[in-house]
Amino acid sequence: MKLDGLDTPSVLVDVDIMTANLDRLASYCRDHGLNLRPHVKTHKNPELAQLQIRKGAVGVTVAKLGEAEVMADGGIEDILLAYPVYGEIKWKRLAALARRTRISVALDSLEVAQGISRHAREGGVRIPILVEFDTGMRRCGFAIGKEAIPVVERIAELPALDYQGLLIYPGHFLKDPERRKQLLAVENRQLSTLLDLLNDAGIPYPVISASSTPTAYMSHQFKNITEVRAGTYIFNDRNTIGCQAADLKDCAVSVLATVVSTSVPGKAAIDGGSKTFSSDKFLSGDGVGFGHVIGDPGTVVEYLSEEHGHLVLANASRQYRVGDRVRVIPNHVCACVNMHDRIYGIRDDDVVTEWQVSARGAVQ
Ligand SMILES: Cc1ncc(COP(=O)(O)O)c(C=O)c1O
Repeated sequence: MKLDGLDTPSVLVDVDIMTANLDRLASYCRDHGLNLRPHVKTHKNPELAQLQIRKGAVGVTVAKLGEAEVMADGGIEDILLAYPVYGEIKWKRLAALARRTRISVALDSLEVAQGISRHAREGGVRIPILVEFDTGMRRCGFAIGKEAIPVVERIAELPALDYQGLLIYPGHFLKDPERRKQLLAVENRQLSTLLDLLNDAGIPYPVISASSTPTAYMSHQFKNITEVRAGTYIFNDRNTIGCQAADLKDCAVSVLATVVSTSVPGKAAIDGGSKTFSSDKFLSGDGVGFGHVIGDPGTVVEYLSEEHGHLVLANASRQYRVGDRVRVIPNHVCACVNMHDRIYGIRDDDVVTEWQVSARGAVQ
C-alpha cells in the first residue's frame, strides 16, 4: 500500500531508520562489552522486542507486570521489570509469570522484597532481583549512604530471591551534551560512594543495570555498569533531538495527519490532538510546542485539543490547505505510540508492514 492509502492520523515508523538505530546501539554495546536490555515501553510489541534480541539484546525491560505478560506471551524469555511491584494480586501474578519465563524485578524496599519472596517461595520459583539506588533522578531507589546497606543485606538473604546487583536510572540526563557531561561526573562520584560501601560490606554487584536514550552512548563512561536499558532509541523523538542525543535524520517516527481547517487566519488544524500525540511536553530544547512538523520547522504545534492539533503558521515556510497531509514528530514517542492500536512501518512512500501495540493499556 502507498502512504496515500493510509487513513489519518497514523503513526509511521521509517523501517530503515529504525533498523539503523537498532544496529548502532547493538554494535556500541558489543564493542564496549555491555549487555543491551532495551526498554520495550516505547513500542510495546513482542515482534520488535524479538528483533532487538536477534540483534544481540540479552532480554527486555518493562515498566509494568502487564507488559511483562504480553512480552512472555510473545515468546520473550528474559524480562526485567524495572519498577517495584506491590500487593498480593501482583505478587501472585509475578510468581505465575516466573514459572514460564525469566522475570527479574527491581525494588527499593523490604516490604516489596518480602512480598515477592513469600509468593515466589509458595509458588516454588526463584525470582532474580536488582536493588535500585537513586543517583540523582529523585524518583525511586534507596538514597546512597550507609543506612541502605543493612537493608540490602536483608533483601539479599530473603528466601526464593536471587540478588543479582543494582539498578540505576539516569532519566535526569535529558539535557544538552555539555550538561550531560557535568551530570556524568556527579553520577560517577555517586556510584563510587555506593560501590565502596558495598565493597566494605562484602556485597557483590555482578549486574549494574543503567542507562536511558540520552545516556546510551555514554554508558561505557558510567562506572562499572554492565547493562544498557535504553528504550526510546529505537525510534527517537523530538525530546531526543532537542537534547542532541539524536539528529533529525535518526528519528524514525512521525504522525501522519490531515489538515482539516484553515479558516482562522494564520492557523491550521490537523486531525490529531492529545489523544493522538499525548500531551507530553517538549522537555528538552526550547520547550515550545507539541511536535516538529517535518519539512516546516518554523510552524509551531501550539496546542492540542483532544482530537485536533493547532498549528501557528506565522513562520511557516509553506502554504497549508484543507486536505494537505503533514508528518509531525511527537515530543515523546512512547506516550504517543501507546495511544494507537497499531503503528505502520514505511519505506519512502510505501507502507511495508504494521505492528500491533499489543501491550498498550497493560497498566496493571
Ligand atoms: C527504569 C527505566 N529504564 C530505562 C528507561 C529507558 O529510557 P529512555 O526512554 O530514555 O530510553 C526508562 C524510561 O522511562 C525507565 O523508566
